[in-house]
This record gives sequence, structure tokens and C-alpha cells, in this order.
Amino acid sequence: METTFKKLIKEKIPERIIITGCGTSWHAGLIGKYIIEDILKIPVEVEYASELRYRKPVLNKKTILIAISQSGETADTIGVIRELKGKCKIYSICNVEKSTIARESDFVLFTQAGPEIGVASTKSFTSQILILYLFSLSFLFKKGELKKEIFYKRCYEVLKVKEKMESFFQKNNIEEIADILINKTNALYLGKGINFPVALEGALKLKEVSYIHAEGYPSAEMKHGPIALIDENMPVIFICMEDRHLKKVISNMEEVKTRKGYIISICDFISDEIKRLSNKILSVPHIENEYLKPLLSSLPLQLLAYYVAKKKGLDVDKPRNLAKSVTVE
Ligand code: M6R
Repeated sequence: METTFKKLIKEKIPERIIITGCGTSWHAGLIGKYIIEDILKIPVEVEYASELRYRKPVLNKKTILIAISQSGETADTIGVIRELKGKCKIYSICNVEKSTIARESDFVLFTQAGPEIGVASTKSFTSQILILYLFSLSFLFKKGELKKEIFYKRCYEVLKVKEKMESFFQKNNIEEIADILINKTNALYLGKGINFPVALEGALKLKEVSYIHAEGYPSAEMKHGPIALIDENMPVIFICMEDRHLKKVISNMEEVKTRKGYIISICDFISDEIKRLSNKILSVPHIENEYLKPLLSSLPLQLLAYYVAKKKGLDVDKPRNLAKSVTVE
């Protein structure tokens, strides 16, 4: 990994980035947009591979494409790479070393998450986020805007996340919350800023393995439609982390509470307000660095989907109609 990042800082700093992928990898790309634009101040667009491959994006040599894929064999993502090859530099973030995407890219950042057996993408999601963060730090360092000591400090924080994840696995109340969801037919996942794509990913996980219809939305966007769905039968899962958006998210929780929605809060900070508004709280370890928060907030969402599916007697590793890699269009 260290050598890859040493090689990366020899690369030219791009002026514009297009990120592409499908499903969970696309969600990681959305998180990457927040991180890269915030840290590097480089404009980032995130595109579904299945759409981008049939468009004619405006590109130049200062644009790079980052294709994200766990398997490295997703047909639509390969389609984009083949379409754009030679028109801009192709980077990929990939988990499988001997894969088509790794082979056909100009530069590969391997997630090294280990083989993923279950169809639902889990550890590769968190690893993709981590790589996007390290990508941003590496280029910031290259730009001369990050001192070596701070770079090392940031890397140390990343190592700390592992301990926090382990402590979360040892103690949590997810099974109790899964019991609430098993008889539901719908769920709404809401988050703001970097937590919006986390909400999308939480909803995808629940749909995929437990067959409960779930939607992810930016929390403030709820009042432009989904609010009509809210009543005492609608579980609303808020990703409510201590960050610059907390106040706004709490006001969205108030709106749901007023309509008698059943609020499950995933938070790394519990205030009296959050206690008053939430029917259930799922607390995750706190980390100061906001770019690393999705690594912690996505864990309970993955586990929640897992327990709901297990309690419904479903095969968590092999959900119906899905394949581990989608090699057809
Ligand atoms: O292997 P990839 O990351 O390219 O796969 C992309 C999607 O097919 C994949 O993330 C899919 O959405 C997962 N089943 C989600 O858990």
C-alpha cells in the first residue's frame, strides 16, 4: 500500500475528476466527492457507469476518471473504461487484483479488503472510502499543503478506526432494532452531507438482503415528497453524526416526530434532544475526523440488514436474483 501511494504522488494533480461505478461502489464514489472536493478543492462528478458509458462526457487531458469496483468485473464499469480509454487517464479502485478493471486501468489503487464472499458489498465499501481519503491526502501532500507530520497523524487516525470498529462489534443493540424492522415493509434512511450517501447505502443493504423496500434521501429533501409517507408505521433511520450538519438534521427529526414517524438514530453523540426525538438509538464510536465517520456509521447499517435478513430466515450471503459480480449489461 505504501509503495502505491508513493507512486501516486508522482502522478499529475488532475483539474477535474469523474468517478464512476455501480451500486455500493457508486455510493462510495459519492462519499469520495465530498472528501475530494473538501480536501483538494478539485471538482468531482459522480456518474452511474451504466449511464456514463452511453454519454459523451466533455474531457481533456487534465481530467481523470476513477472507476470504483469491488470485483473489477462489472460490465458497465468496464464499458466506461473502454469508452474513455485514451481520452483521459483512467484510475481504478479495485479489490480483485487479477481483474479486467485492474488490468485495463492506467493506475490502480487496490483496496486489499480480502475476498468478499457474500453478494452484498460490505468491507469493500469501507475500504473504498478509505482509499478515496488517502488519495486526497496524498495529492494534498504533493501540492505542498499538508506537512509530513500531519500526514502521518492522519494515517494514525485511520489505524484508530480499526479499534473503534472492533469495539462496536463487541457491544451494540442492533438485534433489538432488527426485531422492530422485521415486520415492516418500508423504511426511510436520511442523512445530510457526507451522511447522505451513507443513508443510500444503508437502504440498499436492507433492500438487498432482507427484501424490505427502503429509500435513502438527503434529510432536508424529505419534505419535498417522502414526508407524505410518514406515519407511526414508517421507520425512519437517521444518520445523525456530530458534524457541521447536526442542527439541521435534528430539525428534520422534529419534522418526522411531529408526523409520528418511528425514529431510529444512528449517532456518535447523544444529546437530550436526540434522546427526546428518537424511539431507538444506535450509538457508534465517535471520531473527530468527519471524513472517517462514514466508516463507523455504515457498520450498524450493514449489520442491521444482516440481522433483519437472518431473523427472517433468509440467506444473507446469497440474496435472490443477485450475483456477486454483474458481468452483463
Ligand atoms: O463489484 P462492483 O463493486 O463493481 O459491483 C457493483 C455493484 O454491482 C455492487 O456494489 C452491488 O450493488 C452490491 N450487491 C451491493 O451490495
